[in-house]
Amino acid sequence: MKSGTKTRLIIHNILYEIYKKNKNLKDNDIEKLINTNSSTDIKFITNVCLYTMRYFIYCDKIINLYLKKKPKLNQRILLISAITQIVYLGFKEYAVVNSSVEIAKKIKVYPGLINAVLKKIVVDKNKLTKIQINFNDLPAWFKNETKDLKAIEKKSFVKNIKEEGAVHIVFKNEDALNNFERKIIKTSLSSGFLVQREQINKIPSYNNGQWWVQDYMSYLPISILPKKFFEGKCLDLCSAPGGKGFQILNIKKDEKKVVLNDKSKNKLKTLRDNCKRLNFSPIIRNDDGTLLNLNGLFDFILVDAPCSSVGTIRKNPEIFFKKNNPDINRLLDLQQKLLARAAIALNTKGILAYMVCSFLKKETTEQINSFLKINKNFRLIENIFDKSKKIDLKFINQSYIFSLPNIYRGFNVDGFFAAYMEKYK
Ligand SMILES: C[S@@+](CC[C@H](N)C(=O)[O-])C[C@H]1O[C@@H](n2cnc3c(N)ncnc32)[C@H](O)[C@@H]1O
Repeated sequence: MKSGTKTRLIIHNILYEIYKKNKNLKDNDIEKLINTNSSTDIKFITNVCLYTMRYFIYCDKIINLYLKKKPKLNQRILLISAITQIVYLGFKEYAVVNSSVEIAKKIKVYPGLINAVLKKIVVDKNKLTKIQINFNDLPAWFKNETKDLKAIEKKSFVKNIKEEGAVHIVFKNEDALNNFERKIIKTSLSSGFLVQREQINKIPSYNNGQWWVQDYMSYLPISILPKKFFEGKCLDLCSAPGGKGFQILNIKKDEKKVVLNDKSKNKLKTLRDNCKRLNFSPIIRNDDGTLLNLNGLFDFILVDAPCSSVGTIRKNPEIFFKKNNPDINRLLDLQQKLLARAAIALNTKGILAYMVCSFLKKETTEQINSFLKINKNFRLIENIFDKSKKIDLKFINQSYIFSLPNIYRGFNVDGFFAAYMEKYK
C-alpha cells in the first residue's frame, strides 16, 4: 500500500472510532491508532482528522447532493474525509481520489461509487466551497440546550466553529514576555497571542519554563482577580492539565499553600510534567472531588468543573462529530456535587470560584442560581476585578464572565463562564 493511502487509512480508522465509540482524538486508545513515528505523518493525520470533524456538517450537505440514498457509516466517513481534503484543504485531488478508492476496496465499500462521487466533486469544487450551513444543521441535542441564544449569537457561533483556535501564551512575568523569541500580540503585560502558529515544544525557550499555553478565556478569570484573594490556602479542585493552577502558583510566594487536585491519574501525569518544566512545586493530590475530605479549610477554592466543553468546540470538534451527545444530566450532577463539597471546605470569608468552558445555561447561570438557593451563607461577588489593573471588560459583566467562542484582537478564543462567590457567614 502506498504511504499516502496508509496514512489516509489511519485517518479513516480514527474518525470511525471517534464517531462510533464516542472517543476524543487525544484519548490513549485513539492515539495508539497513529502507528507511525514520522512527525510529518502525525501532523498530517491530526490535521485532517480535526478539519474533517470541523467540516463534517458541510460535507454531509455535499454528499446529499450526489447520493440519493443515505450512505453507510464507513462510506460516509470515507467521503467526508476526502471531501474535506479536496474542497476545504485544497490537497492534490488525484492523490485523495486514488487513495480513497484504494481504502474503499480495503474496507469493503463499493470503490466505483467512491470514485464516481469524488470525481464529480472535483469538477464542482469551486461551486461547493460556497456551501453554507446554519444553526438548524447543528446536532439536535445542542439546539435543544441553546434555545435561549439570540439570533445574532447563533449566526456568529455557526460562523466561528469551523475555524482553528488561536495559541495564547501566559508568561511568568513581563520580562519573560519581552524576551520571548517569537512575535506576540499582547493581551496583558505578561500574556499574548502567538502570531505565527508552530509546534510549541520546538520553540527554544519552551524548556526554560517561563511560559505555558492557555486559552485567553481560560486565563482571563484568574488574571482579573486582586492578589489578596490568594493570600491564604488555595485549592484547585479539578486542576489538570494545570493552566489556572499555574496562574495561582505564579501569584503565590508560598507554593506549599497551594493544593492542585484532580481525579484523573493520566491528566495528573501531564500536570506533574508541566509543574516540573515550569519549576512549580505545589501539593498535588489525586482525590475524587465529590468525596473531598482534606484536612484544614481553604481561603480560595477553584471549581473548574468538567462540562460539555462546548466553548472549546474549535479545539475539540469531536463534541459535535461523535455519535452520542454529552451526558448533560450526569455533568450537572457532578458539578453540583463538586460545588457542594467545595462549599464545606471553604473558610468563612473565603472565595469560591466556579468555572466551565461552556455557555449552556444549565451548566452556567442556572448552576450558580441553584447553588445560591441552597447555600444561603454564600453571595455572588459583583464587579470582582482588580480595579487597579487595566482590564478589558469585553467579556465581563457585573456578575459573571460569559462568552460564546469569540474573536479577541483578531484571534479565536474559546467560550467560557466564571462566577465568584463569597462565604460571608
Ligand atoms: C475543565 S478540566 C480542568 C482544567 C484545569 N483547571 C486547567 O485550567 O487546566 C476538568 C478536570 O476535572 C477533572 N475531574 C473530573 N471529575 C472529577 C472529580 N470528581 N474530582 C476531581 N476532578 C475531577 C478532570 O479530570 C479534568 O482534568
